[in-house]
Amino acid sequence: MCIRMECVRSVFLMMCVFLWSSAHSAQSVYPRIRLSHKELWELNRTWVFQGPGPSLQTQTMMLDEAHERLYVGAKNTLYSLSLERVNHQHREIDWASSESQVEDCLMKGKEKPECANYIKVLQQFNATHLLACGTGAFNPLCVTIRVGHAGQARQFELEEQSVESGRGRCPYDHNSPVTSTLDRGELYIGLYTDYWENDAAMCRLNNQSYTRTERDNRQQLNEPKFIGSVVIPDNDDRDDDKVYFFFTERGMDAEGVNKAVYTRVGRVCANDQGGQRMLVNRWSSFLKTRLICSVAGSNGIDTHFDKLEDVFVLKNKDEKNPEIFGLFSTTSAVFQGYAVCVYHMNVVRAAFNSQFAHREKPEHHWTPYKGRVPYPRPGSCASKMNGGGFSGSKEFPDEVLRFVRSHPVMSSPVLPLHKKPVLLQTEPGGRRLTQIAVDRVQAQDGHYHVLYIGRDDSVVLKVISIYNKDTDTIEEVLLEELQVFKVPVPITEIIISAKRQQLYVGSEVGVAQVRLHQCELYGSECADCCLARDPYCAWDGLTCSRYYPVGVYTKSRRFRRQDVRHGNAVQLCNGLQIDGQR
Ligand SMILES: *[C@@H]1O[C@H](CO)[C@@H](O)[C@H](O)[C@H]1NC(C)=O
Ligand SMILES: *[C@@H]1O[C@H](CO)[C@@H](O)[C@H](O)[C@H]1NC(C)=O
Ligand SMILES: *[C@@H]1O[C@H](CO)[C@@H](O)[C@H](O)[C@H]1NC(C)=O
Repeated sequence: MCIRMECVRSVFLMMCVFLWSSAHSAQSVYPRIRLSHKELWELNRTWVFQGPGPSLQTQTMMLDEAHERLYVGAKNTLYSLSLERVNHQHREIDWASSESQVEDCLMKGKEKPECANYIKVLQQFNATHLLACGTGAFNPLCVTIRVGHAGQARQFELEEQSVESGRGRCPYDHNSPVTSTLDRGELYIGLYTDYWENDAAMCRLNNQSYTRTERDNRQQLNEPKFIGSVVIPDNDDRDDDKVYFFFTERGMDAEGVNKAVYTRVGRVCANDQGGQRMLVNRWSSFLKTRLICSVAGSNGIDTHFDKLEDVFVLKNKDEKNPEIFGLFSTTSAVFQGYAVCVYHMNVVRAAFNSQFAHREKPEHHWTPYKGRVPYPRPGSCASKMNGGGFSGSKEFPDEVLRFVRSHPVMSSPVLPLHKKPVLLQTEPGGRRLTQIAVDRVQAQDGHYHVLYIGRDDSVVLKVISIYNKDTDTIEEVLLEELQVFKVPVPITEIIISAKRQQLYVGSEVGVAQVRLHQCELYGSECADCCLARDPYCAWDGLTCSRYYPVGVYTKSRRFRRQDVRHGNAVQLCNGLQIDGQR
C-alpha cells in the first residue's frame, strides 16, 4: 500500500502544501492512497464477480436499488447480482443465439466471436419487468425480463412469449455505439439501425409509434457516435419535457467533405409526434449545438477537447437542473489529453434559445440567422407552458417544420462551468481515461463532487476538484487510485450507489464492487485525516472515520474535524498532538 503520508509525519505542513496545492499548471499526480487489487482485496474493500468463463464481456449494467440488484448484460447471458455482495448468490439467464442464428451470421461473412448475442440495452420497463435487447448474432432481438415487485420473492426470468425483433432498438454489431433511456414507457435510443451501419438515428419507440431523425440527413447527424441520453423536464408541465442526446459527430466543410470531430448535445421534445404532411414520424423539434471543453493557452490559442468519451448526469433534488459531467479527449494526432467539463442546464437551455445558425450556401460560413423566425419557435414543444395553442406537433404550421429542418444547429455553443475543465490530464504517456461517475458529498465546509474516473488499466481514480473564486483557478486533489481488477483492462462502466456507498465497476473481465471510502487508511492522527481532504472522512477525536453532516450523526459536532477546502491541519488540530508522538 502506498499512502502518501510521509510528509505529514516529517516536514508536516509546508511540504504538503507545496506538493499538493496544484492549480491546473501543476497537477497532483500522486494520490493520497494507491491500492492494488490485492490490497483492496485484503482490506475487504472489494468483491468481484467474474462469471463462469475466462471473461464476462460486460456490455451494459443497470442499478435497481428497489430490488437491491445490479443487472448486467453480457455475452449470451444476463446476470442479476446482489448489491450487497456482487459475487454472492447471483442469478443468470442464458440468452444465447440459437445454432441456426449463429449459422446465418457466419453465412453473412461475420466471424465466430461476433456471432453471439451481446446484450446492449437494459432498461427498467415497468415496476415488474426489464426490457433487454441483444445483437442476436447480427439479428437484434428484444425481450422482457420478469423481476417481480420489489420486496417480493426474487424473480429473474425471461418471458419467452415476449421475444420480438430488436430492429431499431439494438445495433447489429456489439462494437456499435448505442445509448438508451426509458421514460414513462417510451424508449429513447441513439444507434445505427442497420446491418451496414449506414443509418444512424435517434429514435423514440413505444407500443404505437416510432419517431426518429431523418434518414440520410447529414445536417442532423453526420457519422455520430452516441454516448449518452437523458430526459430532463423544463418546468412542471410534463409536455415540455426534453430528451437530450450526447454524441460526437463530424463537422462538414464547404464541399460536404468530412472534417474534424465535435461533441454535440441534441434535443427533442419528449411529446414530439412528428408532422402531419411533412416530417411524418420524424422529429419536428430536433435541434443541436456544440459542447465546448477547452483550456486557454498562454499564446491565446485554446486547446480543445473535442471528443466526448463519456457523460454523467448528476441528478439533483431539483430534477429540472441536473449537472452534466463530460469526459473529453483531444483529437490531435500529436498530443493526447483528457479533460472533464461540467455544464449547467441554464447554460444548455440558453444555447437552445440562442439564434439559429444559418448559411446561405454550403460554401459559406455559418452565421446567426437574422431573419424572421416562425411561430411557435422551432424546437419548442406543444405544451400549455407555450401558450397551449397547439395540441400536438402535428398541428405545427409547415413553415415551422421547414425552418427546423433547414436550421437544426444553434449559433451559440454550450460553455462549461468556470469556462474551463475541472480536471485535466495532459502529461505525455498518460493512461487512457474511459468512464466517469460523480457522487455529491456533504462535508463540513460545503458539498463536493467526488469524481470517479475509469482508466484503460483497471484503475479508478477518485478525485475532487476545488474552485477558487478569488484566483479563478481549480485545484485537483487526487484522493485515491484503486486498481479494481487483477489484470489491466479498460473500465467500461461505473455506477454509484449513494445509498450503499458502493461503486460498481464493469469491464470485459467482470464486475467489481468497491466501497467509496475507507477513512481509517488515512491514519488515526487528526493531522493525517485533515490533510487527506477526503470529503467522506473526518477526525472524530479518536480516528479518521466517515463524516456525516450534523443531524445525521449523533456524536457531538465538537469532535468532528475536517477541512476539505484548505486541509489546514495546524488550525484544526491545534492543541492536539500532531507530530505523531503519542
Ligand atoms: C477482512 O475480513 C476477514 C474476514 O471477515 C477478517 O478476518 C479480516 O481481518 C478482515 N481484514 C481487514 C483488513 O479488515
Ligand atoms: C409490465 O410489463 C409486462 C410486459 O408487457 C406486463 O406483462 C406486466 O403486467 C407489466 N407490469 C405492470 C406492473 O404494469
Ligand atoms: C400502449 O400505450 C398506451 C399509452 O401509451 C397504453 O394506454 C396502452 O395500454 C398500451 N397498449 C399496450 C398493448 O400495451
